[in-house]
Amino acid sequence: MGINLLSLISRAEKEHKLTKGEIVAILENDEVNRELFKAADRVREKYVGNEVHLRGLVEFSNLCSVNCLYCGLRKDNKNLKRYKLNPDIIIEFAQKAVSYGYKTLVLQSGEGNFYSGEEIALIIREIKKFDTAITLSIGEKTEEEYKLFRQAGADRFLLRIETTDRELYKKLHPKMDYENRINCLKIIKKLGYELGTGSLIGLPGQTIESMADDILFFKEIEADMIGVGPFIPNVDTPFASEKGGTFEMSLKVMALTRLILPDINIPATTAMESLNPQGRLIALQSGANVVMPNVTEGEYRALYRLYPGKICINDTPAHCRGCITGKIHSINRVVSKNYGFKKKLST
Ligand code: SAM
Ligand code: SF4
Ligand code: FES
Repeated sequence: MGINLLSLISRAEKEHKLTKGEIVAILENDEVNRELFKAADRVREKYVGNEVHLRGLVEFSNLCSVNCLYCGLRKDNKNLKRYKLNPDIIIEFAQKAVSYGYKTLVLQSGEGNFYSGEEIALIIREIKKFDTAITLSIGEKTEEEYKLFRQAGADRFLLRIETTDRELYKKLHPKMDYENRINCLKIIKKLGYELGTGSLIGLPGQTIESMADDILFFKEIEADMIGVGPFIPNVDTPFASEKGGTFEMSLKVMALTRLILPDINIPATTAMESLNPQGRLIALQSGANVVMPNVTEGEYRALYRLYPGKICINDTPAHCRGCITGKIHSINRVVSKNYGFKKKLST
């Protein structure tokens, strides 16, 4: 007889450990998906409770100086009108978002030096005056810059490893260096940020084994937050005619991540909902405890076009806030009123 997958899931629920081979076995087989999702939901409830943390996402620039093969913001995509918000507008969007009740804001953009370090630091300092936690998601920076932003008050940093398969990483990221990415993650951790990372699911050439490695990597790097989402092909990229990842596989990787890292923050990602209209609610019931609604105003939402079918592009921050709150209540969960830092385990 092969491996008993149900007993693996029930052991992982108690001990939060699985080997690579065991993770592969669960990822390869869809017969125990329901049990996997239920176990991840129980672990979520036990370790991080019923509160859902809302992080308001400000997409402040779609300029990017690198060329990730999967992303619509890549430098060589000429079919995209580019924008870069002035610091005072970014601060205004942040203030409005705080007035809707957000206790954390995520400032996200393409990569590159389109703002000086001092400009970013100023934006952080001003937004911190509104009594909110700040997450940055602005790509690879120097240690000095990460330090500057941390000293200015940034609390968290998101930098997905995207894939731990080094060969694949190299193919997907021309002129970028896997070792440098790892080094950035280590610096971010060392500087006392809450560390967010994660991966894309269904990348061309990605194997199940490498997804299992991704999950083990999240544990090894001691991540505080993991975002997992399907790769969605974009016509304006070299991956226009690739297949893309599935909702189901993304959910499985996310649920396994919850079993292995029980007390971290895990978002129900926007890309999941872009593939399945109930995607975020399903994810919240399969291990996730965070949602990142868009708080970008006006036309910029539509211009931040990573992939087609991105949700909420014609909605306002006020509408999204009401929409997601209603959805969260519909599954008997509550919106958190605090900053949503990772809870430290008492043991
Ligand atoms: N430029 C920063 C970076 O790369 O870390 C932050 C912004 S980037 C747009 C945020 C995330 O979008 C990336 O980490 C990547 O995983 C995701 N992304 C990019 N293209 C995507 C696609 N086609 N489908 C799904 N997610 C995508
Ligand atoms: Fe730029 Fe980030 Fe998109 Fe890569 S994933 S092209 S760094 S915006
Ligand atoms: Fe934006 Fe539902 S969260 S419309």
